[in-house]
Amino acid sequence: MPHSSRRPRKPYHPKRIISESEDGWSRVERTAPTRHGSTPLIQETLPPVDRSLTVQKLSEEHKRCKQQWVESDTRQWLQQLLAMQMPEGGWPLNKALCVALGSPSLSWANRLRSVWQLVMFMDMVETVQTKLNHANELKLYAQEPRFTQLDKDFLESLTVAVLEQPGAEQLVDESSLIFIPCLEWVLELPFMLVAAKSPLYVSSSMHWVAEEAERARHRLNNNPEGSNRLQKDCDDALAASKAVLDTHHENKMPEADFADGHSLAMTIYTLKHEDDD
Ligand SMILES: C[S@@+](CC[C@H](N)C(=O)[O-])C[C@H]1O[C@@H](n2cnc3c(N)ncnc32)[C@H](O)[C@@H]1O
Repeated sequence: MPHSSRRPRKPYHPKRIISESEDGWSRVERTAPTRHGSTPLIQETLPPVDRSLTVQKLSEEHKRCKQQWVESDTRQWLQQLLAMQMPEGGWPLNKALCVALGSPSLSWANRLRSVWQLVMFMDMVETVQTKLNHANELKLYAQEPRFTQLDKDFLESLTVAVLEQPGAEQLVDESSLIFIPCLEWVLELPFMLVAAKSPLYVSSSMHWVAEEAERARHRLNNNPEGSNRLQKDCDDALAASKAVLDTHHENKMPEADFADGHSLAMTIYTLKHEDDD
């Protein structure tokens, strides 16, 4: 049968469906052709920059949040904790890394949470800054692939240097204050591997990381084609989370009843001293 008698194929037009997720991110779904029909491909797109914002407006927001933070019981709890668990001779830190802050200027539901987390990070830095075991100043860095130019200008105005990935992964060491307000466990792994020796590590929870890594490993065990790399990441994350729990005091931050309704609850891991039980 000559090919010319075949009916011409219909051109493929992917369908594009845009929906808003609970936290304000746009979810874009496109269908892709396969031999068995079409399957959805999901991409996340960034929401637009809030055009009403400027560096000055972000600074005012930052000041308003800082004022509430300074007057809060949670901040008092944190100050007492840092005073009690400071190593003899002061904090052996030379830099502070804030990783995965989210963007303070994109118009999504949790934009202000990033501002609150930044306030907390900078206040912790200010607190330990006066109690270092040396005379130098702490250097501040932030890494977040979703930072906009406005975020970068805002952070620069606060003397926080912005790092491009994998700058933070390369810079982190035992003299770093590590502040990670919620990051997927595989991405947090390079920091966890160092955190076992960091004097001050703020993260979601090492128990949560261990559970997630255990779950991923279980899924891999049931999948003969699972990757060796992921298997190693699971084992490393389990070992690293255990190491952090063994070497650090685990201090869960109390829930705050301010922060514009956002949860700030994180876990503060402070390195145990030799004379601690
Ligand atoms: C769950 S969001 C947390 C955002 C914000 N801290 C909050 O609590 O709403 C995780 C963030 O990690 C960022 N991220 C992913 N990989 C990263 C990396 N290697 N370094 C820094 N941030 C990263 C993402 O862009 C995303 O904004």
